[in-house]
Amino acid sequence: MESVDLSELNRLKMLHGEHIILRLTYISRYNNDNPNGEVTRILDQAQQNNERNGITGALVFNHNYFLQSIEGARPVINELLRKLVKDNRHHALQIIECCEVEQRRWSKWSMKYLIPSEENKGLALKFSTGTQFNPYLMSTNQIMMLIDALSEIQEQEQAEESVSKKKKPWFSIG
Ligand SMILES: Cc1cc2nc3c(=O)[nH]c(=O)nc-3n(C[C@H](O)[C@H](O)[C@H](O)COP(=O)(O)O)c2cc1C
Repeated sequence: MESVDLSELNRLKMLHGEHIILRLTYISRYNNDNPNGEVTRILDQAQQNNERNGITGALVFNHNYFLQSIEGARPVINELLRKLVKDNRHHALQIIECCEVEQRRWSKWSMKYLIPSEENKGLALKFSTGTQFNPYLMSTNQIMMLIDALSEIQEQEQAEESVSKKKKPWFSIG
């Protein structure tokens, strides 16, 4: 019986840089010509594909802007970036940060969806320049701090929810 040579498989993967984990964060503008419910469809598609492709990350949507952080094997992230640039459901994509990482930041999530709500919209503005949330006016540091803060709040609220067993959504759309 023929056996699979795992060391050969690993060597081939390494030749493609699959052992290197990249984290890429970008911002973009939502295309308002999209039909209703398109953001939900984007999220579903992202979650399904990412689970299959070993990608983890977080997607923030607010006031027609996207802010997404994705991490995974370097060739896989590059492939997704090519698709994202061509995707006309959003435009004006700008890369905020791209770095090699030892550990994933979003290891638990195929794509975490973070929407600033009425209660925490002050937080989005805290890291913003101006009176309206606009990631194009924010520095890399401000953007990374905002993603961190939103994900922490959501985790806390989810933890409290599971303790109290109350089914109250953390976010509200709008
Ligand atoms: C804001 C935004 C975020 C997206 N995030 C992801 C993602 O995390 N993963 C993914 O596979 N596709 C994502 N997509 C969709 C891709 O642009 C592309 O349509 C999709 O990967 C194509 O999948 P397919 O090769 O299975 O047809 C996103 C699209 C938008 C507009």
